[in-house]
Amino acid sequence: MTDFRSLAGILENRGELVRISREVDPRFEMPALMEQVERQRRAFLFERVKGSPFPVIGGLLNRIECYGWGIGEPQDKPFGQAEMDLRIESAKGSSLAPVTVEQGTCQEVVLTGEQARLGLLPVPTFFEHDSGPFITSAVGIARNPATGEQNVGIYRTLIIDDQVMVVNASSLSDLRRLYAQAEQSGEPMDLALAIGVEPALLVAASCKLPPDQSEIGVAGALQGRPIELVKCRTNDLMVPANAEIVIEGRVDFSQRIENTLGEFAGQYGPETAPVSRVTAITHRRDAMFYSILAGKNPEHNTLGAVATYSIQRAISGALRAKFPQIRGLNVFLDPGLGAMVHLVISISKQDDAEPAQLIRDVFAAHGGFFPMSHITKRVIVVDDDINVHDMRDVDWAIWSRVARAEKFMVIPDVESWELERCAKDGKGSLRVGIDATMDMEDREKLMRPLIPGADVVRLEDYLKARKQTAA
Ligand SMILES: Cc1cc2nc3c(=O)[nH]c(=O)nc-3n(C[C@H](O)[C@H](O)[C@H](O)COP(=O)(O)O)c2cc1C
Repeated sequence: MTDFRSLAGILENRGELVRISREVDPRFEMPALMEQVERQRRAFLFERVKGSPFPVIGGLLNRIECYGWGIGEPQDKPFGQAEMDLRIESAKGSSLAPVTVEQGTCQEVVLTGEQARLGLLPVPTFFEHDSGPFITSAVGIARNPATGEQNVGIYRTLIIDDQVMVVNASSLSDLRRLYAQAEQSGEPMDLALAIGVEPALLVAASCKLPPDQSEIGVAGALQGRPIELVKCRTNDLMVPANAEIVIEGRVDFSQRIENTLGEFAGQYGPETAPVSRVTAITHRRDAMFYSILAGKNPEHNTLGAVATYSIQRAISGALRAKFPQIRGLNVFLDPGLGAMVHLVISISKQDDAEPAQLIRDVFAAHGGFFPMSHITKRVIVVDDDINVHDMRDVDWAIWSRVARAEKFMVIPDVESWELERCAKDGKGSLRVGIDATMDMEDREKLMRPLIPGADVVRLEDYLKARKQTAA
């Protein structure tokens, strides 16, 4: 198992953490520097931030290997997307319940009443049209009053003033439903934000899990050790005992505020949420403030991509079950490509009408989480000699096998979802289908040059033989 601090230590020992000791302004100056460090896929530590006693750390999870190290994988073992996907799937099936501790380092310092000031925190203002400073790395914790279970997610949080913040909940989040339930029932609702938690908990918090599955249990399984929880000082919520900083608050439904932030898809995202009033801030004596660079940037997008592995699996499963003619399937839902799904499907077609029909059927299908047409912007169908996971190969097929205009389909006015920001009110957005298969009449003309036996002849065998001969 690795915790937040040891991941930072691993990166520093590898020479992949950039320390900046000159004082920086958290408004724009720090994000501009964060962006430059992140571009090199390194982590950053700002030791002196104007107006705050806390240093700012981030960029810890901006490439997939860091997730492996963050959940205890050795540094000398290759770790990629496939390994991370499998670890998440296995953790979902073997949840490990948290343990409660009496004392947590997150409460070495306890500030309540007027001492609990959000202004103490070095919260960055990222982009020119943002509503203000945003906490972007907080794991938000709230209790579901119906089940008594805690719900956990990462929610961007706008700072309004020393005591007031806005914890944003998108329409897809369980938190949005908890807000609605509490507002309807008139019962008070407590919230806690934990900043700088175990990497496994960050991953589990950002994954879309079924409402009855505990993110904290999945995080425990992911790191191979239960998450330690400690009770908040001003409410009954249980928070990660090893967090760097915890903000305790209570939601006030009498006031809702629109908050705009430059989002992962590379556009501004205006959202509205109720305010929360701070009841306590607790922290480690030497706490570090963790900040994820907002917008279409490496750490935010990598975390977002890891969080969508389960959605991609669900879409693949639903499509393969419904369309047995599919040979190869690549579902990519990568924030780097916007907030939409892109699909590449390979088939072995029997007639020229099949691909267009498949494209229409796929858009009309349900993808497990959403209707496919809501979230899928582009479907490309290729022949089964094309590698659906190699976009250069797919592009080659588009530009070397398509001559008839009907093979490019533009479907207008499709209802979309809120994160496709270019969709028009009341008219939705377009969808694109490309039939990049060879026309039946062109099969011989467009045949790919292949070397017979190339798939069984192995270069290693010839090199070994040569060495043996030389010896
Ligand atoms: C850096 C980051 C910021 C996020 N910000 C928000 C947000 O502001 N609101 C939201 O609803 N989801 C946000 N998400 C996605 C949620 O954390 C994710 O969908 C999670 O599963 C929501 O949990 P819930 O459905 O249990 O509430 C963010 C994810 C990441 C990685």
